[in-house]
Amino acid sequence: MAAVIGTDLDEAARLLSAGELVAIPTETVYGLAANAFDEAAVLKVFEAKQRPAFDPLIVHVHSIEQLAGAVREVPPEAEALMKAFWPGPLTLVLPKHPRIPDLVTSGLDTVAVRMPAHPLTLELLRALPFPLAAPSANPFGYVSPTNAQHVADQLGERIPYILDGGPCAVGVESTILGLEPDLIPHTSHFKPPTSSWVLYRAGGVPVEAIENVIGTVRPQVKHVLPVAPGMLESHYAPRKPVFIGDIRALLKQHPGRAAVISFSTKHEAWRCEVLSPSRDLNEAARHLFATLRALDASEADMILAEVFPDEGLGRAINDRLRRAAAKR
Ligand code: TXA
Ligand code: MG
Repeated sequence: MAAVIGTDLDEAARLLSAGELVAIPTETVYGLAANAFDEAAVLKVFEAKQRPAFDPLIVHVHSIEQLAGAVREVPPEAEALMKAFWPGPLTLVLPKHPRIPDLVTSGLDTVAVRMPAHPLTLELLRALPFPLAAPSANPFGYVSPTNAQHVADQLGERIPYILDGGPCAVGVESTILGLEPDLIPHTSHFKPPTSSWVLYRAGGVPVEAIENVIGTVRPQVKHVLPVAPGMLESHYAPRKPVFIGDIRALLKQHPGRAAVISFSTKHEAWRCEVLSPSRDLNEAARHLFATLRALDASEADMILAEVFPDEGLGRAINDRLRRAAAKR
């Protein structure tokens, strides 16, 4: 079986309603979708991706009203964030509704939810009586897909249909935020417990924009177990070795066919891909994953990547490059 690539929403809806998988476009990356209420369908997602069961999925909805079947409660700050950024590349981790199978959330009592900003997928969601559980549509640990062909190249033999919504406009995954309890100091035993927002994954909505709405967001402290998001050290990784740092220094350290990923400078190397000549971090993010894939498929011996400015989408770019370069 090879996947059909097309724009037939009725066919996509028919397959999903029958418990099958469909790859869907979003503004961030392509997702591998299943009926979020159907445990057997969700199991197929884990199998197709060879994803470990401890890595929970994101539930996609078309409206804030549809959240009622997925989460138990929406705190006021979460509502403010939804009003500011939905539809868009922001995922919120909220208390899980019992209707969502434990497999979706890997047994956690929270569920990650988001409303994607893609017209085709929003129309599909509106045509379905259930939300869609969807991780990125790539084999576990590999670079995420940003067009329909990327999905077909790797999962085409495992799924019946890929909904083609063109190249992804954002190009890196959603920003993920969750609420975590604050540590209670010894002196304040009688204060009610409080919690604050924690950044689980830098992504398509810059942290600066989020902090404008809800104030300071805490960085995540390292957990012993990989309880959270693409939080595994090695992730988003091409097969070729990746090194990040100053390109000129890296070129000296690594003789051989070096494929360079640069923000705006054309370096003298075996191959050099400039992500944005005008130094636009949004444009760079949009091209990042397709470039990593192309260089991984090239004759290069290794991939050398520059460190991007640590602001706006630059944070998500640096995060993905660091994980791509992490020891496996
Ligand atoms: O942009 C995106 O978010 C894309 C598109 C398809 O929506 N999806 C995506 O999914 O990147 P995925 O599965 O590749 O990454 C989602 C991350 C996972 O690493 C998972 O650990 C985390 O979200 N996550 C899901 N539920 C969670 C929860 N209850 N608590 C903490 N992290 C959670
Ligand atoms: Mg992923």
